[in-house]
Amino acid sequence: MRKFLFPVLISFLLPFTALAGEGMWLPFLLGQLNEADMQSLGMKMSAEDIYSVNKGSLKDAIVHFNGGCSSSIISPQGLLLTNHHCGYSAIQTHSTLQNNYLQDGFWAMKQSDELKNENLVATFIERIEDVTKDILKGVTDKMTTKERQDKTSQNIEAFKKAYAKKKYEDILIKPFFKGNQYILFVTITYKDVRLVGAPPSAIGKFGADTDNWEWPRHTGDFSIFRIYADKNNLPAKYSPDNQPLKPKHFLPVSLDGVETGDFTLIYGFPGRTNEYLPSFAVKQVQDVIDPARIEIREHALKILDKAMRNDPNIRLQYSSKYARIANYWKKWIGERSGLIRTHAVEKKQKMEVQFAERLAAKPALNQKYGELLADMDYKYQEIELLAVYREYFHELFFRHIEIFKPANSLRRFFAKANDENYKELAPDTKKSLERFYKDYQPTVDRDVFKSLMQLYTDNVCTAYFPNILLEDRFLEGYDMEQLATEFYDNSIMTQPKKLLKLIDEKKIDEIKNDPVYRLFMDIVDAYSTRLNPEYQALKAPIDSMQRQYMAALMEVLPEKKFYPDANGTMRVTYGQVEGYLPKDGVQYLPKTYLDGVIAKYVPGDYEFDLPQHLLDLYAAKDYGQYAENGRLPVNFLGSNHTTGGNSGSAVIDAYGNLIGLNFDRVWEGTMSDMNYDRTICRNIMVDIRYVMWIMDKYAGAKRLVDEIQFVHPKAGMKSKKPWKNKTTKKRRKRKW
Ligand code: ARG
Ligand code: ASP
Repeated sequence: MRKFLFPVLISFLLPFTALAGEGMWLPFLLGQLNEADMQSLGMKMSAEDIYSVNKGSLKDAIVHFNGGCSSSIISPQGLLLTNHHCGYSAIQTHSTLQNNYLQDGFWAMKQSDELKNENLVATFIERIEDVTKDILKGVTDKMTTKERQDKTSQNIEAFKKAYAKKKYEDILIKPFFKGNQYILFVTITYKDVRLVGAPPSAIGKFGADTDNWEWPRHTGDFSIFRIYADKNNLPAKYSPDNQPLKPKHFLPVSLDGVETGDFTLIYGFPGRTNEYLPSFAVKQVQDVIDPARIEIREHALKILDKAMRNDPNIRLQYSSKYARIANYWKKWIGERSGLIRTHAVEKKQKMEVQFAERLAAKPALNQKYGELLADMDYKYQEIELLAVYREYFHELFFRHIEIFKPANSLRRFFAKANDENYKELAPDTKKSLERFYKDYQPTVDRDVFKSLMQLYTDNVCTAYFPNILLEDRFLEGYDMEQLATEFYDNSIMTQPKKLLKLIDEKKIDEIKNDPVYRLFMDIVDAYSTRLNPEYQALKAPIDSMQRQYMAALMEVLPEKKFYPDANGTMRVTYGQVEGYLPKDGVQYLPKTYLDGVIAKYVPGDYEFDLPQHLLDLYAAKDYGQYAENGRLPVNFLGSNHTTGGNSGSAVIDAYGNLIGLNFDRVWEGTMSDMNYDRTICRNIMVDIRYVMWIMDKYAGAKRLVDEIQFVHPKAGMKSKKPWKNKTTKKRRKRKW
């Protein structure tokens, strides 16, 4: 049972108190911080079952997938499960018009059909240690930010050198709690990861952008890979002699399904959260930063959407780009309204008042931290416009206006190339340019350029304009058509053949004289000599104050359990299967079924079409062992605190078995990155039975299904200890 604190404390602690659901916990501290809470939610494991350095534990089946997504091992032969959207680019790379695996799916029917992937890696965590003492040795409060940084970097280097690690291990040291703590991760990275299976996009990406961040959801967002190792079971580059990895642990698959109230544990690698921002910083995101980002993307998306509707070829070229832009556009809209709806700013303000009251009672702490929030507030006001301009630079020049991408590749190439290595480096640059031009439409991009440059010249202060745009001829203002004519219509960046030829002929000066190249160089100059230095000069003290604020919170509230913000490292989050109330009078149930997939079916639609074979299996109700009362489960919801990077995370039941695959959150709860709210923050998972059914019945990949160890933990529990099940159920019943 959770302890109850006296009422004053409860209201005081509310914004930062970990109620079940909130928190991304370090696996090696679960025993200390969470075990009892987890067990009170129905977990039947110990902390040691989840993370151990002494014996095989769940941790040994959890894999960081290519540095950005999560994944897990689901067979004794190194089979790895992640999302379709995480395996997407690997699947795309192998796809051609004849063998369109994105469209039709891919299943390696024998081991030799499994496809190798260049540069795809899978990382295990060997062990985790707190190394704060070593890294902060010699660091004092009196140091400037720069001195502190230098000292910690030195310490990290020295620590790494001295640390006894095996040849195939890597070590990673990361700051936690804003740099108040340092944690070491010893990792093992496998480099031969092969594509084994993927459903067609009509299943793996069913609902596409319309359903993205939404519930009710019906997506089979999974793909399957296999890790290969050398004959000693150690990492090795691709070789036909490599063998499937024999993992230390793999996750058995539960066929028992989930019910409301069931315990769920998400094990993966959440990317970035900001849960300890002060109220004014949250307000800035809500009222200034998010609106700016949303507006920029809205402009870009509008143009792409129109072009894609009018031309199927453009749709093919731009659908993945569109999805990428739309993903966070939609997220930020949800985040902003979620912050408003949950009164995040007021909640943090209230907390800050009480923080000040607690400080006031302790003169020594007050002396140290009394002015901190006021100082920070001031710095946030100072940085506000620069932060917006920075968004403009990043969004426009490094993302949406595509013509700057070849300019940027060439800029980097020229920075590295000299007379000796030019010939050696050129092919890589050419390859990346060719890849870019394959999906590039200058007419579309020209419209994006015009639309976004209008926004830019309207909203960004001229002090940060690229020099070209400050020439006298622009004194009267900017005519976007004229700008586009000047830059686009005369640029070799829109003429790939000519450009590649110039690279071959080493006509560097001619390229450097290109109007787009010159404009881009001026943009980089404006950014790196004016905007960014000014921004960083304010960001550094803000970071330093944020670190002190974090330390202050922990000092002033010694009774509270804090969890560190996500930073791409291994975490456990836990909650329960549960629905939510998205708006007044509406209740969302936590599970969806194949019937719902079929109900959304729109033949020929690029988001909601379905493969005939799936329709046939549905008509025959051929669900095998994967059915639940005659229906096939597809997705479910839980109150687990997740973020970007958690995609592909294993969803584990009370006993340590795989029950699902995390892939998204609900739109109303996307502010969880700054303000987790148990009432509406939900993560979205694929039911593992849907994954297995697709593999088994849809794809007929029997050899893969045979590798899986299926279990029925609930049946086992019921027959052995029926009373135990009952009590857990009762205690956790939701009262809608
Ligand atoms: N919203 C999810 C995430 O942030 C899924 C994104 C992929 N799916 C999509 N339709 N774009 O990654
Ligand atoms: N879809 C996200 C991912 O790819 C997960 C999330 O943001 O909830 O990691």
